Amino acid sequence: MSRNIESHLSEDREFKPSKDFARKARISSMAQYKRMHKESIEKPHLFWAREAKELDWSKKWDKVLEWNAPDAKWFVGGKLNVCENCVDRHAEGSRKNKAAIIWEGELGEKRTLTYQQLQKEVSRFANVLESQGIKSKDRVIIYMPMTPEASIAMLACARIGAVHSVIFGGFSADSIVDRLEDSQASAVITADGGYRRGKVVPLKENVDAALKKYKKCRTVIVHQRTGEKVSMKKGRDYWWHQETEKVSSIHKAKAFDSEHPLFILYTSGSTGKPKGILHTSGGYLTGTYSTCKYIFDMNDDDVYWCTADVGWITGHSYIVYGPLANGVTQVMYEGAPNYPDFGRFWKMIEEYGVTIFYTAPTAIRAFIKAGDQFPQKYDLSSLRLLGTVGEPINPEAWMWFHDKIGGGRCPIVDTWWQTETGAIMISPLPGCTPTKPGTATLPFFGVDAAIVDENGKECKANEGGRLVIRKPWPSMLRNIYRDKARFRKTYWSDYSGIYTAGDGARTDKKGNFWIVGRLDDVLNVSGHRLGTAEIESALVAHPTVAEAAVVGKPHEIKGQAVIAFVSLKAGIQGDSSLETELRNHVGKIIGSIAKPDEVHLSPMLPKTRSGKIMRRLLKEIVTTGNISGNITTLDDPTVIKQLIKTVTKKSKS
Ligand code: WTA
Repeated sequence: MSRNIESHLSEDREFKPSKDFARKARISSMAQYKRMHKESIEKPHLFWAREAKELDWSKKWDKVLEWNAPDAKWFVGGKLNVCENCVDRHAEGSRKNKAAIIWEGELGEKRTLTYQQLQKEVSRFANVLESQGIKSKDRVIIYMPMTPEASIAMLACARIGAVHSVIFGGFSADSIVDRLEDSQASAVITADGGYRRGKVVPLKENVDAALKKYKKCRTVIVHQRTGEKVSMKKGRDYWWHQETEKVSSIHKAKAFDSEHPLFILYTSGSTGKPKGILHTSGGYLTGTYSTCKYIFDMNDDDVYWCTADVGWITGHSYIVYGPLANGVTQVMYEGAPNYPDFGRFWKMIEEYGVTIFYTAPTAIRAFIKAGDQFPQKYDLSSLRLLGTVGEPINPEAWMWFHDKIGGGRCPIVDTWWQTETGAIMISPLPGCTPTKPGTATLPFFGVDAAIVDENGKECKANEGGRLVIRKPWPSMLRNIYRDKARFRKTYWSDYSGIYTAGDGARTDKKGNFWIVGRLDDVLNVSGHRLGTAEIESALVAHPTVAEAAVVGKPHEIKGQAVIAFVSLKAGIQGDSSLETELRNHVGKIIGSIAKPDEVHLSPMLPKTRSGKIMRRLLKEIVTTGNISGNITTLDDPTVIKQLIKTVTKKSKS
């Protein structure tokens, strides 16, 4: 940790928003931020009631917050329909003919949906879901490419009170089975396929494979995206376009309780089984609405673009719920950033006049590597605000983004948050916060963030510790689906009544938060969380593998690369073709994002005398090529020499 801290300390470049930007922004001075932040911490009920009032409620809440740590209820007694707030209130008002979604497919097709058109599409699909017998609180899996139908499917679930669980289209059939089983879903919404780098991803085929193992799904609705031939099971599988033609484009939405479950999103933890993070309605919508308004400073004339996939929390909060609740126009893109070349994003920014652009550090690093000639070809002068999310941004990438994309004039909001927090927690406010490359700066309104040591004592400035949140916030997770014990243990057991984020961080003298990275066995690969335990159990599921240990290694573009150490069952001889087979095996079980970059076969893994694999040592070997510390606790110290040899030999070859 100390190395990172020192390198950050030398960061003295500071960027203040221009006077012009500040003047037009909602929060335009640090004094205003400080005053509002103080109020939001001391009197959260006042602050959040004001925010929530900007949404449409069919019944006002009786009480803003009921807090029985770790259980929170926000806007208790209130009733609203999340979908109506994102769609109908704009469609039936002055934004009726305003573009809600400007979509571009990877192959270049274009579609625009106004708020009114979106309302009709969502209403039709809500009618389809109801005609299939899907009811309030039923779980619905969504496994789709980045088409407007993905957002429509999510909104339609929200409209009828069904709980969606979106699975990223890069996940495999086996990953779908786990999530179907955990959520006990009764329906799946998918597509015949999606495009990625010009190739078709066989989504429906994966669903078919998953449903061979999980029998409780009664309905599959298939959106026709590619026109590929897929098999349709009679009485279970239905085409989206055929079903939506049979129903009305009017759907009367019911209001649901503020604490009605909205969605489950699975994310990696430090043990093998993904955690089903549960979010509810009123608080989540208030949090995503409010962060969009203040952090992205969304206005009616903005064209906003978030490049995430709807399969991740960033897509949920900052493609679907937050931006639509604000009635903004957004760009949505189906494919890869480098298709057909690394100019794709910049070309689209020029074409649609994008004003707010939100992306990930891993993408920025890939663009830097591809070269400045790509952004230089396009006019990026429409941009006024940039944002990043997913991992700490290295100062070089921040500077490149600032200079080459933002033309030196756009503030950058480096936003720290998590699947669990639902909405952005630490971020600059673009009209007032001085930014520095590498820090997410200051807590958002209502966020009581701190760095504490093992005993819960607050750390001094520049002292590294654990990032915690000391007060409840509206968009916080409410549970790990059907696993209260794990919820309590994972997030609330380190310090009483306090949320542990699992990240290491420090604050500087000005109170800026510098996030160092995860403290648990979770890797951050291209901004995506992957549990080492999950990858290890996928490896051990292969018939040749006896034991596996997975660690992360710093990677220029991905942030971290997955490195696997594997020992084979007795009598099995390994070679490079088995290594490839094991990589593909992980791809098949979890999805290609989890494929190890390197697989090292080793007859033994380093273990303590009590038999625990010492991942710390493996990490040191892959990062430095050696072991610096004491290895006397090892059961068999000769293992280390052998491993160092294997790893260094491979990185030379
Ligand atoms: C990391 C993504 C530094 C962090 C929204 C966190 C970040 C995990 C940042 C959550 C940032 C996210 N600076 N680190 N701006 N944003 N992280 O659940 O380790 O996919 O705990 O949510 O990503 O990842 P998740």
